[in-house]
Amino acid sequence: MKFFIDTANVEEIQEAASLGILDGVTTNPTLLAREKGKGDFKDMLKKICEIVQGPVSAEVVGDDAKTMVVEARKLAKIDKHIVIKVPLTMEGLKAIGMLKAEGIGTNATLVFSPTQAILAAKAGASFLSPFVGRLDDASHYGMDLIRQIATIYENYEYETEVIVASVRNPLHVVEAALAGADIVTIPFKVIGQMIKHPLTDIGVKKFLDDWKKLGAEI
Ligand code: E4P
Repeated sequence: MKFFIDTANVEEIQEAASLGILDGVTTNPTLLAREKGKGDFKDMLKKICEIVQGPVSAEVVGDDAKTMVVEARKLAKIDKHIVIKVPLTMEGLKAIGMLKAEGIGTNATLVFSPTQAILAAKAGASFLSPFVGRLDDASHYGMDLIRQIATIYENYEYETEVIVASVRNPLHVVEAALAGADIVTIPFKVIGQMIKHPLTDIGVKKFLDDWKKLGAEI
């Protein structure tokens, strides 16, 4: 399973990249707005692409397919790793097909149903982002959607890669892996939670204390 980080914060991306586990990045307008005041967003995306050297999602905000395509062309010029995030609406679906015809990669986003997932695959989206956390927030089992999509995509050998998005905790990552998702996009805080285990900390302390008793050097 590939790991993307769900942030536009360059420091967080650098730190996650140093762990050697990072395959890509997802941003959205909300995440970019959090970095307001830190420079031009296009420069920020360029820097992120240089750090990660993998797919970096940047989202269009236009109302209609034509506008989305115009925006997508501009975003795609920033770096060859940019993938265009397109909301799974009627106009978004049209834009995904148009961008595929131009050879521009897309990430169908704001996906909440299996029907949307089928349509995105048929339109030729490179990636699909179902939002599990927001479904959980609305009292639906987000991970059920991932399992349904995994089965459907396997049945028809769709090539669209599933990115489990709107991840809120480490169990989302475990369940995404069990469901066979291609990718999970994880907030920086959750990466930290995945690493941390109290028994590891206790074990490290005990070994260090005992090593001091030995009085040796490596
Ligand atoms: C990533 O592709 C999504 O934009 C992101 O995971 C949404 O997360 P949120 O539901 O926590 O805003």
